[in-house]
Amino acid sequence: MSVFKKISAQDIKDNPFRLIGDDWGLVTAVKDGSVNMMTVSWGGVGVMWNKPVAFTFIRPQRYTFGFLESESGFTISFFDEDCRKALQFCGSKSGRDYDKVKETGLTVVYTEEGLPTFAEARLVLVCKKLYAQPLNEESIVEKEMVSPYYQDDYHKMYISEITEVLVK
Ligand SMILES: Cc1cc2nc3c(=O)[nH]c(=O)nc-3n(C[C@H](O)[C@H](O)[C@H](O)COP(=O)(O)O)c2cc1C
Repeated sequence: MSVFKKISAQDIKDNPFRLIGDDWGLVTAVKDGSVNMMTVSWGGVGVMWNKPVAFTFIRPQRYTFGFLESESGFTISFFDEDCRKALQFCGSKSGRDYDKVKETGLTVVYTEEGLPTFAEARLVLVCKKLYAQPLNEESIVEKEMVSPYYQDDYHKMYISEITEVLVK
């Protein structure tokens, strides 16, 4: 992990709307020794239970979902624009059909906690799940706006402590 140095969450310089919504991130997790990652552009960062946290929303049909469910930790990695093609691939192809690490050519490196991220990342949020709950139809307030995003595939929300922030 010598490619990265640690900073505190308070010292993250990025605007979260650009970082998550425009740049996109890779949620990456390990299960039974294999690594899978998927692109995310919905979610957030903030403060909950007096901790820096990340909010992620993962639909249950994602292959990555099983990885997130099986372990308490995962990473969210952010990249420079030259990795956009890899993020497009990871956001349109499933780990069920492709070895995404091989196909993208990204280099897996492990955090001190043994969680996978990538040497090419410029910012990594190391996450530990604190709370997980599926969204549901009864809880939607603005049905007209929100319901079109769902058939019966409601995202599961994960609120995770950001235990480490890694930068180059
Ligand atoms: C820009 C972008 C953002 C995405 N954001 C999310 C997201 O926040 N949550 C989600 O469940 N899927 C999201 N996806 C879809 C998954 O990345 C996509 O279905 C991926 O192929 C799942 O891979 P997997 O089956 O290997 O887990 C996004 C896709 C793209 C292209």
